[in-house]
Formats: sequence, C-alpha cells, structure tokens
Amino acid sequence: MRKLAPNPDDLGRLDLDDILGTINEEVRRRFGEGEVADYIPKLAEVPKDRFGMALAMLDGRVHEVGDARERFSIQSISKVYTLTLALEAAGDALWTRVDREPSGDPYNSLIQLELEKGIPRNPFMNAGALVTADVVLSNYDDAERMLLDFMRARSGNPEVGTDDVVAKSERESGYRNVAMANFIRSYDNLHNDVQDVLDFYYQQCALRMDCVDLARSVQYLADGGRCRATGEAVTTAEGATRINSVMMIAGTYDAAGDFAYHVGLPAKSGVGGGIVAVVPRVMGLCVWSPGLDEKGNSLLGRYALHRFTRMTGLSVF
Ligand code: DON
Repeated sequence: MRKLAPNPDDLGRLDLDDILGTINEEVRRRFGEGEVADYIPKLAEVPKDRFGMALAMLDGRVHEVGDARERFSIQSISKVYTLTLALEAAGDALWTRVDREPSGDPYNSLIQLELEKGIPRNPFMNAGALVTADVVLSNYDDAERMLLDFMRARSGNPEVGTDDVVAKSERESGYRNVAMANFIRSYDNLHNDVQDVLDFYYQQCALRMDCVDLARSVQYLADGGRCRATGEAVTTAEGATRINSVMMIAGTYDAAGDFAYHVGLPAKSGVGGGIVAVVPRVMGLCVWSPGLDEKGNSLLGRYALHRFTRMTGLSVF
C-alpha cells in the first residue's frame, strides 16, 4: 500500500487533490454497497449513489471532491458539538452523568443503562447524547437557536439550517429514544422535561450541512479548540484533546476498534452517511455516502477514510 508521507511535516509534498480524485474513482466503482438508514422514513428517500469528501486545512485551503456540496442530515455527528457545549458549561462534572468509555454496543442500545444505573457509557451513544442534550438545555437559553448559530459560526456558512421534516419523522418514529429518555429520567439523570430533551435531540440530528461545512466545523478540534472561521476559542486545547479521545474510542460505536485499526483518526459518524474526522494540527475532514454498514456507519465513507490515511500517512498511529 502506498504511504506517501510519514508525518504531517511532509504535508506540502502531498497532492491532496490527486489523492481525493483517486479515492473518488475507487468509491464510485463501489456505489450500491451498504443500506440507507430506513428506520427514520424520511432518511430512506436519500439515494445511495452519492459520495463527497472535503478537507479543511488549518491554513485555510479547502480540498473537495464529488458531492461535497450536497447537504445531508448530519444526525449523530451533531453529538460532537453538543458534547463540546455541555463540557464547556458543566466542566468535569459532566463525567458524573455520562462516562467516557467504549460501549461495544450499538448506538441505540439500552442494555448497559440498567446495569450502570442510568449513567450512559459515553456521550456518543444515543443514551449519552440525551444526557448532553439535557445539560445543554439546562445551560443555554433557546438551545435550538444557540446550536444553529453555533453551527453557522463553526462552518462559516450562515445558510446552515434544520430539516424540520426529518425532525418530525424522527419524533414520530423514535420509540426507542422515548423509552431511553424515560429510563434515564427514572434515575434522575435528566433534569429537563423528557419531551423537551427529545425535541432538542431530534432537532440537533436534523441539521443539514454539506461536507465542506462539516470539515470546517471540526477544525477547532484540530487546532487546540480555536475556530478558524471566527477566531473564537470554542474550547481549550485540553478540551479539544479530550473530545478527540472520546471520538476515537466511541465516535463510531461498536466499530470504534475497527476504525482505529483501519482509519486511525478521531471520527464521528451519523446515520445520514456522514463521518467527520480530525487530523490533529492539520485539518478537519468530512466524507459522505449514504449506504451504511451493519453498525450504522457509512460503508464507503469508512473505505474512503481508510484509503486517505493510508495514502497520506496521516493516521495518528
Ligand atoms: O437517535 C437516532 O436514532 C438518530 N437521530 C441518530 C442516530 C445516529 O446518527 C447514530 N449514528 N450512527
């Protein structure tokens, strides 16, 4: 396998557009693999033959290929941003309400919750994301508006919006999330009205963004917590390091080990087919292809990230 650059210092020698072009050709030959998420009826309508990839370099350059400007439902990728906001608001006390360990179980699993007394294993499983959503609701006025403004600022795109049809579709079909939220509430680990927590959670999942927006939106995690678009410190350098570590161990659920093995970057997936990833000190990136593998991660997105780290040498390992 080609390994062009042994470390990020050699980045200038890489032809990133050429690498993206090669990945795009390889991925398009595999169109059709994977299954589009159909448990949220609105998401089932998205065509499978799409692939986009964008790299947002810390020097401001953007490299993109394929359908990188087509918007999609960001779904669980939103959990990165609500974790950031919850950690900023609650500090280390957050970890008394949600753990930071891998789960080894699917994103929508309830099985550990009773054994572990309503403390979710990590903030990226649905159970943990409901807790971080609750913390955000407790600490910010008009949390939905705040999150939308936050995403517009992080991406530098004032057009970022929410797909109310997807949010409604999820509200109408989210029986498991309803059960989970009530179960967590029974342990007093949700402090707001259960329906309010669920509504905020559905709203965050229904944000629509494209690969370029999302690659820019995770740049702060590559740059010691600093947002390139606004210059703001979104979190501290320590905060960025911590969030990246949680992405590495839990961002792709029960495939996190496989992602570490084949990709080797902190990453967060969503059932809309997007995956964001971070090359610390170098770039934020995003891939999108709607066909999912059996763990709910984009099948061709995972392949593209694997090829990318092997062709560039940019795995953190
Ligand atoms: O809770 C749900 O079912 C979705 N809104 C989010 C799930 C998701 O994206 C999981 N990630 N792969």
